[in-house]
Amino acid sequence: MATESLPGIGTLDTRGRRLNELRLSIVDRCNYRCPYCMPADQIDEKRDFLSPSQRMSADEIELLVRAFVRVGITKLRLTGGEPLLRKDLPTLIRRLAAIEQLEDLALTTNGSLLTAQAGALREAGLHRLTVSMDSLDPRQFAALSGGRGRLDEVLAGVDAAVDAGFASLRINCVIQRGVNEDQILPLSEHFRGTPHVLRFIEYMDVGTLNDWTPQAVVSAAEVRERIAQHYPMIPLSGGVDGTTASRYAYTDGQGEIGFVASVSEPFCSDCGRARVAANGEMYTCLFASSGVDLLTPMRGGADEQALAQRIAAIWSGRQDRYSELRGAAQARALPVRVQMYTVGG
Ligand code: GTP
Ligand code: 5AD
Ligand code: SF4
Ligand code: SF4
Repeated sequence: MATESLPGIGTLDTRGRRLNELRLSIVDRCNYRCPYCMPADQIDEKRDFLSPSQRMSADEIELLVRAFVRVGITKLRLTGGEPLLRKDLPTLIRRLAAIEQLEDLALTTNGSLLTAQAGALREAGLHRLTVSMDSLDPRQFAALSGGRGRLDEVLAGVDAAVDAGFASLRINCVIQRGVNEDQILPLSEHFRGTPHVLRFIEYMDVGTLNDWTPQAVVSAAEVRERIAQHYPMIPLSGGVDGTTASRYAYTDGQGEIGFVASVSEPFCSDCGRARVAANGEMYTCLFASSGVDLLTPMRGGADEQALAQRIAAIWSGRQDRYSELRGAAQARALPVRVQMYTVGG
């Protein structure tokens, strides 16, 4: 069935970009404390997270997603914090998977709770899984999760996902200069020859809690060259619709690898991603300083059509292109930026 967009309401923003994907955070909490996202010493458990009543319920989430579908999205990615911490996750996925116009339903997780849950997620109708993995060294892995994570649990989670029927996973890795550069080769060797697609993401200045500097970024080109010295690769033309990654294939037939050059080669010009935090605030950029509250209207009785109109109006006024402006005065002048764990990356 063709996507049902609302006649008469614009889904293009001020730069002609069409809204096509929603990245929805369903819980802001996380069992990890990755220093680049939620450094433990800067997080106040009582102050920094939403209470259950501040979070959208499953009914509200479904209503909101249906409204976004009316405005034209066909891709939905569930994120956190850590989305597997949400108790009603399988039920929620079942309800979202039943929305006919959604062609793609994916979820990003740190993988720590996957062993127990992979089967239920698959059964509920989730299409795709992305698991974060910044190191294959157990000690470094633990340090990069703020002392909370165990590599063996995540590797077991990946196996459990395969057993549950998720044939090919995405594995996200963020490399930081001088921190885990030594993991570039081990990670690529680990996932070469598997159906999984490892993707190196450039370290970004998301949120305000990490001490990001441009010097800490290892460019996608550098990571790619380092791997290609051992395992040559060729670019794959075209991508999965709207993907952020440049895709490559190993020339020896050992599978695919990807690079997200979010700092060195920004992809704002065709960014059709909206984000909604677990409290129903809509953000039109990963680097936005504020969102627009959609939960209050929902709790006030707004229906699918009324919400769709609000969403379309917000999108029509969108001007964001932070990554293209990074370093320029306009970007530096932004007073605050939403945290990564609020909008889920
Ligand atoms: P696929 O549909 O699986 O290809 O998803 P994707 O390309 O959207 O990938 P994913 O959600 O795994 O995103 C990978 C990482 O890229 C995220 O975790 C972010 O760190 C970064 N990223 C995703 N979307 C954006 C974006 O709109 N802007 C910027 N600057 N970075 C993004
Ligand atoms: N820069 C790039 N990627 C990040 N992630 C979290 N913080 C950052 C950052 N500052 C990644 C996580 C996870 C995904 C949701 O976003 O590692 O893979
Ligand atoms: Fe949790 Fe992901 Fe943030 Fe790490 S990056 S603290 S796993 S939400
Ligand atoms: Fe989209 Fe903002 Fe990322 Fe640019 S910086 S790609 S506009 S989310």
